[in-house]
Amino acid sequence: MQKRPLIIALDFNSLQEVKAFLQPFGSTSLFVKVGMELFYKEGPEVIHYLKSQGHNVFLDLKLHDIPNTVMQGMKSLASLGVDLVNVHVAGGRRMMEAALEGLEAGTSLGSERAKLIAVTQLTSTSEEMLLQELLIPQSLEETVKSYANLTKRAGLDGVVCSVWEVPMIREVCGEQFLTITPGIRNQEDAANDQTRIATPLQANQVGSSMIVVGRSITKALNPVEKYESMKLQWEGITI
Ligand code: C5P
Repeated sequence: MQKRPLIIALDFNSLQEVKAFLQPFGSTSLFVKVGMELFYKEGPEVIHYLKSQGHNVFLDLKLHDIPNTVMQGMKSLASLGVDLVNVHVAGGRRMMEAALEGLEAGTSLGSERAKLIAVTQLTSTSEEMLLQELLIPQSLEETVKSYANLTKRAGLDGVVCSVWEVPMIREVCGEQFLTITPGIRNQEDAANDQTRIATPLQANQVGSSMIVVGRSITKALNPVEKYESMKLQWEGITI
């Protein structure tokens, strides 16, 4: 696996669209993200296809259920040979530990266990929603900090967070703890529905472990060129 990858979010709804998008990349080995939209439609076939093409896969299904169900679910996901998977911290410490156990149990002998990360608060969650709907009086920042800390104590590898939360999470959870950051845009790109955005260079400067880029690449006129230029920026090579 690349050390600090740029993960392309394959937010498409069919394997056919995925194949058409990836075709111009030729034999370049990529790190891609498959979310609910694509996985619920195409199932494991899409993962088998991506792995057969030599790509690393982040399967972004955000599991959240009772510990035993999550454990069995993770066991099944591990058997697909994916590289990165996730759960919601809101399922609690025992659920996160069970996810890890399931992942370990489902990883075939001699293979590396997929990294397991957690979602602290969804970017769609506001402080008002925390208070009014979820009855959580703490600030969003306090909950993110405390959820990241719980994730670390449960033995997981890292969290999904905004670029701007990376320094705080590093302070609480240490340098080895992975920070996977979506919401990445070049200055000239549309923000779309993302609010707390950052450029690949800013992600590099704060020390994100991995960045996730969707529409900036998938909707670009020339996705390969856009990928290459964002990757260079992410690696700190050019601005
Ligand atoms: O197109 P865009 O770059 O905004 O896509 C970002 C990807 O990262 C999407 O697949 C989105 O679901 C995902 N994501 C996110 N924010 C989070 C967690 C995941 O944007 N907090």
